[in-house]
Amino acid sequence: MTKTWLITGTSTGFGRALATLLAQKEDVRLVATARHPEQLDYLTPMDHGQILRLALDVTQLDQIKSVLKTVHDRWGNIDVLVNNAGIGYFGTFEESDLSAVQQMFAVNVWGLIHLTRAVLPEMRQQHAGTIVNFSSIGGLYSFPTLSYYHATKYAVEGMSESLEKEVRDLGIKVMLIEPSGFRTDWAGRSSQKTLPTHPDYQPLASFIQDNAQGAHHEAGDPQAAAQIIYDQVTHHQAELPLRLPLGEFAVKTALQKVQAEAVAFKANYELSASADRPLD
Ligand SMILES: NC(=O)c1ccc[n+]([C@@H]2O[C@H](COP(=O)([O-])OP(=O)(O)OC[C@H]3O[C@@H](n4cnc5c(N)ncnc54)[C@H](OP(=O)(O)O)[C@@H]3O)[C@@H](O)[C@H]2O)c1
Repeated sequence: MTKTWLITGTSTGFGRALATLLAQKEDVRLVATARHPEQLDYLTPMDHGQILRLALDVTQLDQIKSVLKTVHDRWGNIDVLVNNAGIGYFGTFEESDLSAVQQMFAVNVWGLIHLTRAVLPEMRQQHAGTIVNFSSIGGLYSFPTLSYYHATKYAVEGMSESLEKEVRDLGIKVMLIEPSGFRTDWAGRSSQKTLPTHPDYQPLASFIQDNAQGAHHEAGDPQAAAQIIYDQVTHHQAELPLRLPLGEFAVKTALQKVQAEAVAFKANYELSASADRPLD
């Protein structure tokens, strides 16, 4: 059965890889969105009427409304929403530029919130739908100089986990994608960087510089990620995982994190439990 997929941020990276894959699938109607739709010309050779290319800055509510109206008028409801658009920010907690941090929250968190809330009524009505939210391994595990980026992705994780519990009996699936480093524009042009100025933070400068220099040399392959996402959503609906780390570093880090936390929680079990009142 043909499904309508809407993806945000399809100019480069994961979004472009997924749009390219979906544009070649017979069972897909593709709504490829980008802030600058002229960047979607790469889809032209694959377009035989099954692709809509629309302008969408996810921070602009009027554009969200207009995109959904256009899709609705043309094809009806959206079956799969991929909240992919996202940016990064490197800087220490103390010295980061908070206006840039707010812009990152506007894209990574509020954009995802607004779009998801806009598609949910139709998904509930049709008792079916899939929401794929791009988190990061940085939504589970934190590195220095990325505190605010982590804050956006932990927010996406917490909201998605809760949303999944609210909508699972309504026929709607929610899946979090948690990549480690992938060859996209994220670590380069899509992440603003503020090098530390205070001498106390100088040892952290090299972490930011190494990430900037490592852009486009990461282990992760966006085409492989796109194939995995398509296969999961299309063929493994029944077992769709809530959390899907992508890349070996991501899955290793996720495992280490949960194992270390389990040990720490168990070590303090009696202390933690002692904060309750005795039962009446
Ligand atoms: N690559 C990694 O290593 C990695 C790891 C973990 C998670 N992620 C996540 O993966 C997702 C996709 O990023 P990527 O790695 O593919 O990086 P990317 O190549 O830089 O792509 C980011 C996309 O987001 C779009 N975008 C930025 N601001 C937007 C806005 N206000 N409205 C709509 N679109 C906007 C960009 O569009 P423009 O071209 O207009 O800027 C671009 O299409 C992000 O959520 C990111 O946090 C990436």
